[in-house]
Amino acid sequence: MPSVRQLQQVIRAQKTSDGAGVSLFRSIGSSQGRVDPFLMLDEFSTENPNDYIAGFPAHPHRGFETVTYMIEGHMLHEDHLGNKGHLRSGDVQWMTAGRGIIHSEMPQQEQGAMRGFQLWINLPAAEKMKPAGYRDIPSHDIPVCQSEDGRWVKVIAGDYEGLQGPIQGVSTQPLFIDVKLAAGMVFEHALPVDHTAMVYVFEGELAPSASLSQALPLKHAAVFGEGERLHLQACAQGARFLVLAAKPLREPVVQHGPFVMNTREEIEQAINDYQSGRLAA
Ligand code: FE2
Repeated sequence: MPSVRQLQQVIRAQKTSDGAGVSLFRSIGSSQGRVDPFLMLDEFSTENPNDYIAGFPAHPHRGFETVTYMIEGHMLHEDHLGNKGHLRSGDVQWMTAGRGIIHSEMPQQEQGAMRGFQLWINLPAAEKMKPAGYRDIPSHDIPVCQSEDGRWVKVIAGDYEGLQGPIQGVSTQPLFIDVKLAAGMVFEHALPVDHTAMVYVFEGELAPSASLSQALPLKHAAVFGEGERLHLQACAQGARFLVLAAKPLREPVVQHGPFVMNTREEIEQAINDYQSGRLAA
């Protein structure tokens, strides 16, 4: 096994829409394949209010976790448990749907840019029916590592160079970091050898490097094979990207929209529970 992780797959984000008509770029997701334990990664990035104003009215989830990272903008989350959270620029919302949550995610702005991400992380079979949980993490509680030569890393989950992200104790041990590199700068990070690892570029571009046999343009994800570390380099215009890593579950996945379980019977149960009002009881 090589010590430096090697590129395994490049995924170009597809333009799609979800919710009540929110325009999105989906890189991993049901039609493009999943990267265990990651089920979906959506980027929303627009200055046109028509692309986001309709938002995501009340809808259910069961069986996984959703992480929303707002780069720029203002959204309001409300759920059946009575949680209410304003998500502003730089903030994160970590929601464990568990056995069931019904929530809405609605823009609180009528103009201006809205940029950010939603990542879905699967839960192991043993935790799919645990009680729902919800955390708002304001930007000022998220540590940032900044070097004078132009490297900026925000640590949302997992550890990076001695900094601990605010999200700990998740059984898939996710790493979720936002990395900005100045022109030509190198990024190296050690990861558990058998954890899934991927990056998603949302500003600039990554140049070919020890882990990337080809350049990785804007709105493209790269999935890497097993290995001890990632080695990436920004191109001449610099780059900004998410690095996502986690322990794969290696369990069967059966998905029906916002329900992600292990068997068809469990999906039927989720639909029945939702229709009869028991999902979020
Ligand atoms: Fe949702």
